[in-house]
Amino acid sequence: MSKIERVGISLEPELLAKFDALIEKQGYPNRSEAVRDLIRARLEQEYLADTSADAVAAILLIYDHHLTGLTAKLTHLQHSHLLHIITTTHVHLDHHNCLEVIILKGKVKEIQSLADRMTSLKGVELSRVNIMSAVGA
Ligand code: NI
Repeated sequence: MSKIERVGISLEPELLAKFDALIEKQGYPNRSEAVRDLIRARLEQEYLADTSADAVAAILLIYDHHLTGLTAKLTHLQHSHLLHIITTTHVHLDHHNCLEVIILKGKVKEIQSLADRMTSLKGVELSRVNIMSAVGA
């Protein structure tokens, strides 16, 4: 960590009380750590708004593996984006449903494109994509 600079900010008491209640609920040890995280999150949001930015991501899919051809289509999509895939984890949830977590890296737009193509396949019932800055903030 680089040198720390101290800053003072002015807040309305009501806003500060809400902030303190929130960070206490979340378990922050102090306001400084909470404010640092807020700033990092906002900077990351700005960074990821550039779709050519480098990022890491987790795509989560829940799908019915009985649907003909779906598993092969998902595998094909991953092979065609092989350079970006770091790892995948497959969990058999019950007789029908599988959870697949695909961890990958690449440009924001490439990650979103792959996630969109997987999500739109027939048989994929739920999906989430969580994209984060690969370089921190
Ligand atoms: Ni399975």
